[in-house]
Amino acid sequence: MKNAIIILAIAIMSFSLFGCSSADDSYENSASSTEMADDYSVEKEAPLAEDARQDKTEVNKEEQTMIRQFNFETKTVTLNSGYEMPINGLGTYSLLDQECIDAVTTALKEGVRLIDTANMYHNEAEVGKAVRESGVPREEIFVTTKLYPNQYADAANSIDEALDKLDIEYIDLLLLHHPGTNDVEAYKAMEQAVVDGKVRSIGLSNWYIKELETFLPQITITPALIQNEIHPYYQENDVIPYIQDLGIVVQGWYPLGGRGYTAELLGDEVISQIAKAHGKSSAQIILRWNLQKGVIVIPGSSNPDHIKENTELYDFELTDDEMEQINALNRDEKHDWY
Ligand SMILES: NC(=O)c1ccc[n+]([C@@H]2O[C@H](COP(=O)([O-])OP(=O)(O)OC[C@H]3O[C@@H](n4cnc5c(N)ncnc54)[C@H](OP(=O)(O)O)[C@@H]3O)[C@@H](O)[C@H]2O)c1
Repeated sequence: MKNAIIILAIAIMSFSLFGCSSADDSYENSASSTEMADDYSVEKEAPLAEDARQDKTEVNKEEQTMIRQFNFETKTVTLNSGYEMPINGLGTYSLLDQECIDAVTTALKEGVRLIDTANMYHNEAEVGKAVRESGVPREEIFVTTKLYPNQYADAANSIDEALDKLDIEYIDLLLLHHPGTNDVEAYKAMEQAVVDGKVRSIGLSNWYIKELETFLPQITITPALIQNEIHPYYQENDVIPYIQDLGIVVQGWYPLGGRGYTAELLGDEVISQIAKAHGKSSAQIILRWNLQKGVIVIPGSSNPDHIKENTELYDFELTDDEMEQINALNRDEKHDWY
């Protein structure tokens, strides 16, 4: 046991010293990520002692000072947990039953490798089924799910329930869906799930600067990612750099404004003109704008044409002037209550 802990600590130290040194390096770092993954499977059999866990979080803290750069060649970013995550994916909010299975299946066929679900979406089982039956190796797919506040009081069991429903061996990224009663305790249960090899990376959703200032000092593993509402009409221009400066990756929900709001956003004159100039759709311009700001996108769709279109984001680039034009559209207009 002691030897296993020493080997693990050396592996993590090596990763810290030689991995993740620049954006251009992140493709090469995928090998290191795999090594990390192997380490986690060791932990699953032999949970870490408290002192080794401490070593691991010390390494994690050193790494958190780095701003995570997106690699547009591999279409991934390396999280502070050491794992690589795709920077565009499929959101599954409001996709139920066969519609969800079909959408995830189509996305995986189109090369999408990031799927976002949540306990609250009531479709973890469908997401898991589509992943298992896709024929794509499990290691190539990145699945995010979330615990809802009504699960925080019994988070450890809720994590096991999510694993049962998904049935995909492990969860790539687990988030707390909203701030709420017992959220610190729930986060500590997620930290334990990382140690136990059930979950690879952990993070938060709907946490803003004020909530983060209170929350972060109370936890051990820095969140790998924070998922908040972000679109051209609600840009969070204060929150994004605050999170990124902590070495935490930002992901946007409602990238296209959310259902009921997409027509206005996609029809926006400024966005439509930029789209015309690039021979792209408004949706693609908005998604690309997010990526160039370092924000991961998870547009929701059950339309195969849209799902495909939402992957074609890497054969053009917005100029600084076009980025500024979209930045100027901010209205601080939230499209949901949280
Ligand atoms: N953490 C949180 O609190 C939170 C909250 C909300 C959402 N989320 C996550 O964020 C994801 C994205 O949000 P969302 O799905 O609600 O909203 P969204 O992605 O902003 O918009 C989805 C809408 O856009 C349409 N659409 C997608 N691609 C399009 C394209 N290329 N052209 C035209 N229309 C297109 C979809 O219709 P079609 O089906 O017809 O394509 C759908 O009506 C969710 O699915 C969920 O995973 C997280």
